[in-house]
Amino acid sequence: MNLLKDSFEFGLHTQINFGIGRLQELPSIIQKYQYKNILICTDPGIANSGALDRLETILKSENISYEVFTEVEPDPTIRVVKKVEQLYQEKNCDAIIGLGGGSSIDTAKGVSIAVANPGDLTQFEGKNQIPNRGPDIIAIPTTAGTGSEVTHATVLKDEDRKYKMGILSEHLHPKVAILDPELLTTLPRGLAAITGMDALSHAIESYTSNQAQPITEALGLHAIELIGKWLRPFAADRTNLEAASNMMLASTIAGSAFIWGRVAAVHALSHPLGGRYNIAHGLANSLLLPVVMEYNLSSNFQKFKNIAALLGESVHDLSDRTAAGKSVKAVNELVTDLEIPKSLKEINIELSEEEIQVVAQEAFDSGIANANPKNVSVKDLISIINTIK
Ligand SMILES: [Fe+2]
Repeated sequence: MNLLKDSFEFGLHTQINFGIGRLQELPSIIQKYQYKNILICTDPGIANSGALDRLETILKSENISYEVFTEVEPDPTIRVVKKVEQLYQEKNCDAIIGLGGGSSIDTAKGVSIAVANPGDLTQFEGKNQIPNRGPDIIAIPTTAGTGSEVTHATVLKDEDRKYKMGILSEHLHPKVAILDPELLTTLPRGLAAITGMDALSHAIESYTSNQAQPITEALGLHAIELIGKWLRPFAADRTNLEAASNMMLASTIAGSAFIWGRVAAVHALSHPLGGRYNIAHGLANSLLLPVVMEYNLSSNFQKFKNIAALLGESVHDLSDRTAAGKSVKAVNELVTDLEIPKSLKEINIELSEEEIQVVAQEAFDSGIANANPKNVSVKDLISIINTIK
């Protein structure tokens, strides 16, 4: 970016409370904003992990009224959002807590939209289509990856169309994000690995996108460095609080970067792959990230060289092109070390030519790949999918 010619915008709209044990502060936040009856939105895994119990104990100790919904599904659906909204209305709630991974936080965002905006949620697809701001959202992530705790986005699945719909609006930034690394300690290893790869995808895509600007680049670079250093030890031992703290931080920094720097071809493709074949978001991103990086290398060798160096590769005395290529090698090695599958075949998914065409077209039509540093056509997207077959 040429600072003499170009301009940019940046803003963060979420109060971030980071630190071990800070879940304890939830009652004082609820009192500050005078919520009378708050709805906790979470999934069965979190309900059984002890995290929900901890949260309920804290609320009960301060006599705070709340309701609980524990049936959020992975890849949250419009159907579930409607169910939660019904409960919200029946119980006269006035704010929503998303406790969990991206699915719980994105469901909480969907409920916030539905409460204040009548009609079908599909009409709000895209950017800034939501007329009314809904109830406040408090995000309490239990994974380190989504970034949803600070972003303006929710991704909801429309089961009728087998379609993952993105809704982006300034109304969707959570009011407060409580980042308590202790909440990561019960995360299963596989989930720690793929959600970490989601965070890395946010960091790399926003850093290299054609929408990158100085602040998102700074955030992206720092997130890449933290993930390069801490994702392996975190996946190996989620009770390692130093690793957990650094990954939680990296996830939120990467989320802050992509609010403005955007994501690109990796996310454009991972949405239809998730919507149609139920591939977990982080896993789909992990499959796609090295391939899309390879495709994008020539857009900016210097940036990919920087990524390589931050991921621990030695880049001294190498040409920019060769050094840039090492970023792909570093990501591939990370995926190997995390024992994440590297192809659709490994997860027993085989796509016909027609299916690949549909996924590529849907990815293209979503407009997400418009932020890709190199132009991508449907044909390019088809060849990227063919590479991860
Ligand atoms: Fe993502």
